[in-house]
Amino acid sequence: MRVLVTGGAGYIGSHTLVELMGQGHEVCVVDSYANGSPEALARVQTLSNGTLEAHEADIRDTDRLTTIARAFAPEAVVHFAGLKAVGESQRQPVEYYDVNITGTLSLLRAMEAAGCPRVIFSSSATVYGEPVYLPYDEAHPTAPTSVYGQTKRMAEQILTDWAAARPEAAVMLLRYFNPVGAHPSGRIGEDPQGVPDNLMPYLAQVATGQRPYLQIWGDDYPTPDGTGIRDYIHVVDLARAHVAALDRAAAVTGAEVYNIGTGRGSSVREMLDAFSRAVGRDLPAQVMPRRPGDIAEMQADATKAATQLRWKAELDVGDMVASIWTWQSANPKGYRT
Ligand code: NAD
Ligand code: UD1
Repeated sequence: MRVLVTGGAGYIGSHTLVELMGQGHEVCVVDSYANGSPEALARVQTLSNGTLEAHEADIRDTDRLTTIARAFAPEAVVHFAGLKAVGESQRQPVEYYDVNITGTLSLLRAMEAAGCPRVIFSSSATVYGEPVYLPYDEAHPTAPTSVYGQTKRMAEQILTDWAAARPEAAVMLLRYFNPVGAHPSGRIGEDPQGVPDNLMPYLAQVATGQRPYLQIWGDDYPTPDGTGIRDYIHVVDLARAHVAALDRAAAVTGAEVYNIGTGRGSSVREMLDAFSRAVGRDLPAQVMPRRPGDIAEMQADATKAATQLRWKAELDVGDMVASIWTWQSANPKGYRT
């Protein structure tokens, strides 16, 4: 298929490009490079056969996006472009609503102009909010607790309404759990700007000596070792879920929602121990008070993706930490080296 990829120069987008190109899809990237880099795309090109067309553009520039979409004539769009930091979204709500909502509306207008009926959307398990029960299945109520989460839920609604109005449209809403890891080549990976908020990129910087120790945000949760439990998913598995969703979108119409996780939970201490094993020494850590807004535990019920998308996560925590270490030790400053 001819696939337009917004935000393809970012973390999950770059890994997805490798999988899409590996399956023979033709790709065209639109990215503003607000949080992605052309270097990531250059490296994707070295990992893949096929050519990669890329445009530096803001998805909110509807005229530009429409021109690009009309020229490329995509059969589907994978929509990654957006802002994703929970804390920042509370401080800059207008920017988050503008990029994530205005950007999505702008994309739909460009898709309509180019006659493209399919879109795969990057949503997040954060739309569920406080768990009413676990594991979360797709029927769990949505009650996001941050501006970022609200933008994801609103974008899901907009895309669902768009599909309802167009008999030929197919929308796949993928709710990611905690994406971690890197391509096994070590050529592409997560490249956070500034101090990472998330566990694994922070730990990776502890491993290279850029941070003195991991701060464990609380060890008094009602979990077996007291630290928070999450459903970490390897970014390569996540990338492959997009290829599966694309196949599904070619075969069905309407909007469908899928949890993309492993169904297994790991605690902060388990991730710390696994990373220490990958590095070959005990990484330093200090227990701190709980981080406000954190929940004790969350995992996906990923059975719907297994049955309908015929997709299942195949890589484990060992693969996740090994790939992060390969990437981080070869690129301690990310793409800036
Ligand atoms: P990322 O920041 O690495 O990638 C996003 C890409 O979008 C970047 O390359 C950035 O330059 C680009 N971009 C941002 N604003 C843009 C704009 N206005 N116009 C064009 N391009 C723009 O993030 P990621 O981790 O790869 O996440 C991709 C998507 O998945 C996001 O929508 C994010 O909300 C969602 N998601 C991510 C996670 C996660 O943990 N990483 C979890 C759930 C959902
Ligand atoms: C956060 C976001 C979520 C986003 C996800 C991306 C919130 C409320 N949610 O989820 O929307 O999709 O990132 O992966 O911010 N931890 C530490 N020390 C650290 C960092 C984290 O102990 O330095 C702990 C946290 O308390 C948590 C676990 O590690 O128990 C995972 O945290 P993190 O990677 O930030 O992800 P989430 O909070 O699950």
